[in-house]
Amino acid sequence: MINILFVCTGNICRSPLAEGILRHQLDEAGIPAFIDSCGFEAFHVGDPPDYRARAVAERHGVNISGLRARLFSVMDFDWFDRIFVMDEGHYRNVMKLARNEADRSKVDYMLNVLTPGKNMGVMDPWYHHEAAFEKVFQQLDMACGELTRQLRTSTPGI
Ligand code: 4NP
Repeated sequence: MINILFVCTGNICRSPLAEGILRHQLDEAGIPAFIDSCGFEAFHVGDPPDYRARAVAERHGVNISGLRARLFSVMDFDWFDRIFVMDEGHYRNVMKLARNEADRSKVDYMLNVLTPGKNMGVMDPWYHHEAAFEKVFQQLDMACGELTRQLRTSTPGI
């Protein structure tokens, strides 16, 4: 079983959306995986996702209301096989904590699933209008769809 971690800033908008979307898609595909998300800012630790993130997820049939924000820990390198960050800031933060090449090889930008090597960021919707959350949802939904396709072909017996 593969363990996948999503990382953003506050762990209340982008990474919990990615967590919820991928879990939903993998459940539907019958692909076993452990999925989690975390952030780098402590402001919202213990909080549920932002109401706008919960609302956009709900509109698309994904429930993320039970998730709670937590911080990234260096131990996450031991627990997770793949670590997807939302933008360059998170990439730098995670890479700074990587202890060796094995840790570093687990880390990539989420949108590199769709456009390998382009290192494009998922916009931070926190300060934006509701429409930004819909755009973020669509980007993450497409990237998670591709990730699901890749995992389907690499998971034996499903
Ligand atoms: P996220 O959005 O990283 O997608 O969860 C943010 C949420 C909160 C803050 C920044 C970004 N904040 O600074 O509180």
